Amino acid sequence: MRRRGVPGFLVAVFAGLVTAVGITVSAQGAGLGLPDEFADYFTWERANPQKDLEESAHPLIKDIYIDKTAAETVASSAFPYAEGSTLIKERMDPATLSVTTLYTMRKTAGFDPQNGNWQYGVLEREDTGAFTGGWMSAENAGMCVGCHVSAKDTDYTFLSYLDK
Ligand code: HEC
Repeated sequence: MRRRGVPGFLVAVFAGLVTAVGITVSAQGAGLGLPDEFADYFTWERANPQKDLEESAHPLIKDIYIDKTAAETVASSAFPYAEGSTLIKERMDPATLSVTTLYTMRKTAGFDPQNGNWQYGVLEREDTGAFTGGWMSAENAGMCVGCHVSAKDTDYTFLSYLDK
């Protein structure tokens, strides 16, 4: 762990700044325990014009970040998404506005052909500011799929926050 020796609260404070201001520093994202592939997710396109306050399995309050590949599909409504498309829902604590959880979806060829080949993941943020968790196996993602299947027409993504 490269950040050993850095007081946890400093990491947490910096993480909060990065999230709030959206500074493009992917190396810092990596230091937060995020997988390289989305260490800079907070610089991606935000799909929701307003904060996503919809009641669902995902608690309030939320922002949804989508990578370039996913953004092309969303803009053109040309479903299904292309290989590698990644969507990340970032959940904040309503009291502190600190990020607590990331819910992730990535299109991965051959991963789960019955359910649109989406890989699902959850990352929880620890008190140190670093994230733990990651991608789930197809077997463990049954709960996610069970709900997202009702958005099958838009390739398992709800996108209900797009025009709000
Ligand atoms: C009870 C239903 C339900 C379950 C279970 C569920 N989701 Fe969702 N999910 C939704 C709804 C509804 C939305 C859109 C509204 C919102 O933002 O809450 C959404 C949105 C998302 C998005 C943004 C892309 C989109 O679909 O618009 C991601 C990423 C996501 N969920 C990941 C997950 C993961 C990972 C799991 C499993 C750990 C999961 N979801 C479980 C209902 C669910």
